[in-house]
Amino acid sequence: MRKKIIAGNWKMNKSFDEGMALVSELSNMIKDEYHGSAEVVIIPPSLYINSISRMTADFANISSGAQNCSNHSSGAYTGEISASMVKSCGGKYIIIGHSERRQYFGETNDWLAKKVDAVLTESLNPIYCVGETLEERESNVHFNVLKAQISEGLFHLSAEQMANVVVAYEPVWAIGTGKTASTEQAQEVHAFIRNLLREKYNETVADHLTIQYGGSVKADNAVELFSAPDIDGALVGGAALQSRSFADIVKAMA
Ligand code: 13P
Repeated sequence: MRKKIIAGNWKMNKSFDEGMALVSELSNMIKDEYHGSAEVVIIPPSLYINSISRMTADFANISSGAQNCSNHSSGAYTGEISASMVKSCGGKYIIIGHSERRQYFGETNDWLAKKVDAVLTESLNPIYCVGETLEERESNVHFNVLKAQISEGLFHLSAEQMANVVVAYEPVWAIGTGKTASTEQAQEVHAFIRNLLREKYNETVADHLTIQYGGSVKADNAVELFSAPDIDGALVGGAALQSRSFADIVKAMA
């Protein structure tokens, strides 16, 4: 059985107090209402990871993580955060290559491959994001784009290392637009990604890989998305900013 993971990416939202209130409400909702086995991952601005990991320490299926990290382990890189710092604050997952990082901060597949290494060196789990733009989908090059993102960012890893990687498929045109990919579109891409892993590694690696979908996931489309055989959870943006809407997505996994 593959691990199912529902992660909430807060992006650059919430004050510290707002964030703590959200985590407190959310953890109580999950404790009372959710009896499934999916892991719930809270991915706040990095400043809050330590407080959140302490707050949720007693909740076996809730963990936390960061939205980005440096490819360096330490040193004179003003403003950067290393994977080991995330780990020392209790974080377990680090998003690598979110489309907003690729788009606004110029992160390339080669650079992201080094960040993936930095995360794995600390025995944390990268959530490696891939996804095509609307233009790429409309000109029918999306599978080539996805293949390059996967192969250039991940294929230097060994099969053993791949076991600790999570992939998130987030079509850029579905992020924050309210326009989610149809379950068929998402399933098609997830199966495509799994097949790339099968060709490069083996059946076990492919079958073990958790592939999340992200892009306007809400409670009312989550049930259908999660029913697809290759969709193993969600990377949620907007709907993770409110405890009720995020807890309802978690419940959709049950
Ligand atoms: P939305 O759920 O707001 O579309 O954001 C998705 C996302 O980018 C999560 O990383």
